[in-house]
Amino acid sequence: MKTKLEKIKQDFLQSIKEVKDQKSLSDLEDKYFSRKGELSLILRQLKDLDMKTRQEVGKFANSLKNELKEVLEKTRKDLSREKTSDVVDPTLPGEKISTGALHPITIVRKEIEDFFATLGFMSIDGPELESDYYNFTALNVLAHHPARDMQDTFYIDSKDEDKQADLLMRTQTSNTQVRAMLKHGAPLRAIVPGRCFRCESTDARHEHTFYQLEGILIDENINLAHLKAVLEETGKFLYGPNTKLRTRPKYFPFVEPGLNGEFSCFLCQGKGCRVCKNSGWLEVLGCGLIHPNVLRAGGIDPEKYSGFAFGFGLDRLVMLKYDINDIRNFHSGDLRFLKQF
Ligand code: PHE
Repeated sequence: MKTKLEKIKQDFLQSIKEVKDQKSLSDLEDKYFSRKGELSLILRQLKDLDMKTRQEVGKFANSLKNELKEVLEKTRKDLSREKTSDVVDPTLPGEKISTGALHPITIVRKEIEDFFATLGFMSIDGPELESDYYNFTALNVLAHHPARDMQDTFYIDSKDEDKQADLLMRTQTSNTQVRAMLKHGAPLRAIVPGRCFRCESTDARHEHTFYQLEGILIDENINLAHLKAVLEETGKFLYGPNTKLRTRPKYFPFVEPGLNGEFSCFLCQGKGCRVCKNSGWLEVLGCGLIHPNVLRAGGIDPEKYSGFAFGFGLDRLVMLKYDINDIRNFHSGDLRFLKQF
């Protein structure tokens, strides 16, 4: 019986060499391995042998079967590989290419940049790793000023080279106000979208890393009416033509007067709803007329020029626009979230 098996093996290995396509391969498979195939027939005869020979031949037959099956599978793989490399079927549907998409913050940032470009504002950026000087001191926040406590700051161990000031992660895009003044001088119109950092404990509305969008305009005879007009137009651009602006006094050391800005709620038109927490208003920005000390730090003469500055919470605008209820989604890297935009 062993010799019979050996013969089958030789025959099989000989025939498989001649196999050229999947069809003849499966014919060969049938010839040997199907229920009535040569190998199966032999294996069925095992039961007629005595116990001892049966064990011995059985073992031999099984390993032979496995060996032949392996050869068969290998040939099958080789054949299918050859097929894909040699033959191109142009009628097959192409493989789906997964495309990337812009992050929702990027989408809104670009829209706002386009809007401000129509008003003559250039879009600039400032450093995220910043010296204490530009983030605070130049903005009229002196060393032990209590306003520093308004923002919990991440300080960095090393010092800034020229100013000998502490280094920190910028807590606000206002850090770029004085930098822009020094670089471009007056008159000046610029927006600064960018990432900011505060040592906050996180929840659905607070993140240690978030985005702001700063704006400054400096020219002769600029006053609150100009600020109001620009912000009203921004509100209409963001939330539709019926949007109203409301401002209330708020202290920021680098503006005087300082204001807190709210837009009427786009969802309920000011009646009160879930999005505006029943107040009818959405608090989205801080603003004011640039403090003379800040103009001076930027090398601009406050007797000749005046200006306004505003800072939007950019994440907040994006959350409102897309009805996102947890700010932590933005940096989660979760594709289920990101694929929705
Ligand atoms: N930088 C301020 C903040 O982070 C916002 C602001 C910007 C206020 C410009 C006034 C003028 O809260």
